[in-house]
Amino acid sequence: MGKAVSALGGAGLIPQQGGSTPMDAFAYPLACQAIPRICAEIGLGCDLSEEVFPASQAEAAGVQVRRERLLAILSGEHGVTPYDLFRESGIGQERLALTERFVPAGSDVLDVACGRGYFTFASALSGSNVMAVDRMGDERRPGWWRTFNSARESLGLARRVSGLRADSASVPLRSDSVPVIACVHAVRDIMSQAERSGTFLEAARLLGPGGTLLVAESTPAADTPPEEVYMAYLRLRTRIGWEADVPSPGELEALVSQSGFNRVRSTLIRFDRDYAPVEFPREAVRDLPPSIREEHGRIERLRQVHGIRPTAVLAVTASEPAE
Ligand SMILES: C[S@@+](CC[C@H](N)C(=O)[O-])C[C@H]1O[C@@H](n2cnc3c(N)ncnc32)[C@H](O)[C@@H]1O
Repeated sequence: MGKAVSALGGAGLIPQQGGSTPMDAFAYPLACQAIPRICAEIGLGCDLSEEVFPASQAEAAGVQVRRERLLAILSGEHGVTPYDLFRESGIGQERLALTERFVPAGSDVLDVACGRGYFTFASALSGSNVMAVDRMGDERRPGWWRTFNSARESLGLARRVSGLRADSASVPLRSDSVPVIACVHAVRDIMSQAERSGTFLEAARLLGPGGTLLVAESTPAADTPPEEVYMAYLRLRTRIGWEADVPSPGELEALVSQSGFNRVRSTLIRFDRDYAPVEFPREAVRDLPPSIREEHGRIERLRQVHGIRPTAVLAVTASEPAE
């Protein structure tokens, strides 16, 4: 591993592994964000941007070939590990910062609607044992649990992380048994108001005495043109039905307090990194109705002018409900 990079592995939790790193659905966004940064640190030439999806379709295939070639060099010749990719990506850095700020060190965590597990792995890297819950299954997202399990292995976290397929409104765990419950960048994927209420009522049942709830979500307010571009993509995802609306800070706070939690506190956080790439896989765009494709094209042109930046994140914390 190169000198600059080895410092990144400082936590000493992750076994260093040689060989190339597979770019599956977990690793791909991390690699896109981390490769240009790591190359800059070790002085390796790199003409790739951090964008997950390149500006034009014609560019996409070539970019991916260059990315894979660079990743092979980084992992083969410089010892860059999956942990380095996580640590050097905006996604990983944001989840690690949220963990450091809001999860009491070493507490067991239940990560509700874990998705690809970015927050799960950040908490586990910080020393927690984490149970990750998601309802995803092979019919909707083929191979997602397999990808999750291979990330557990490649990050050296198999003993600290377990995955459980369940609905967030009905988690098969004992009442009052969990010290920390997190729900990170997931509320907008919990599609109906009823499911959202069910999720937080269930969290209130599960959270143990003295426990902490952490809910983090992008806010819908865009303050700059690059943030407008980000929101335009999110609104288009809502229109297609891939996601529900991004809740406003007031809606998020009400959701938590109406589920019976105490001491609800909100913190608005601006990260200066891209922590949540908006995904519009090109194959998926091709199959969408013409009006959506047209709107997608319009937003892509705006992105080329203004760039793209996620909006601020609202972190809502709360404690167990009063008896
Ligand atoms: C954007 S991902 C979560 C991101 C992740 N927490 C992170 O740190 O990157 C949202 C996830 O919510 C899950 N989800 C949505 N509704 C759910 C429900 N009712 N029960 C369990 N999981 C749900 C989806 O399957 C999806 O994997």
